[in-house]
Amino acid sequence: MSESQLWDDVDDYFAALLAPADDTLTAALRDSDAAGLPPINVAPNQGKLLQLLAQIQGARRVLEIGTLGGYSTIWLGRALPADGRLITFEYDPAHAEVARGNLARAGLDKIAEVRVGAALETLPKLAEENPEPFDLVFIDADKVNNPHYVEWALKLTRPGSLIVLDNVVREGKVADPGNTEAHVRGTREALELIAAHPKLNGTAIQTVGSKGYDGFALARVLA
Ligand code: SAH
Ligand code: DHB
Ligand code: MG
Repeated sequence: MSESQLWDDVDDYFAALLAPADDTLTAALRDSDAAGLPPINVAPNQGKLLQLLAQIQGARRVLEIGTLGGYSTIWLGRALPADGRLITFEYDPAHAEVARGNLARAGLDKIAEVRVGAALETLPKLAEENPEPFDLVFIDADKVNNPHYVEWALKLTRPGSLIVLDNVVREGKVADPGNTEAHVRGTREALELIAAHPKLNGTAIQTVGSKGYDGFALARVLA
């Protein structure tokens, strides 16, 4: 058996046991696929990790950058209380439409709001509203802008908030300082920013499984 087959099998085992799909999650992925969205949502056990992190945070307010069909949004939204709030940013109106349908079916349409536009344009608009600080920010959009998204996350959070960055490994490309791909450079710059910033305490973790070889970075906002 190949290593990657083994990783998939273990992911399937973990997901079935610890992060089983229900009708809502299954329908969200089915409708995303039917609408031609790429299958780049987080894996089920990763979605469950996001939910657990939001719960550990005692999160009432979550910000997500990169909605796709709202699969990760559902996991995060389910961690929130009934009066919680989740704002998720999506560039592609077609993705946003699928996500809105999926969030409504999940019963999260009162809690979760999909805002359409390039996040570097919608983030300043959100900041102008002087929103209460977000307890968790999940960054999962165009990786070239990851350093900007970390800076915005800092502006929109409080001491104790958690920033999660997806796809920081990308088959190991992140460790190659000579890599010139924009998304790899963006992620390396974001990691360097986390490492150097006096108000952030972070780490990064590699993952394998149904979504390939990739990883997350986590950073806690300090006082
Ligand atoms: N978080 C989702 C996956 C997001 S995929 C999940 O795990 O289920 C990345 C998404 O970011 C795509 O839908 C893409 O259209 C969106 N995106 C790309 N560039 C963006 C930008 N500049 N602003 C906001 N969203 C963007
Ligand atoms: C891609 C984006 C993601 O957010 C992800 O989790 C996997 C792949 C991509 O753009 O290829
Ligand atoms: Mg991702």
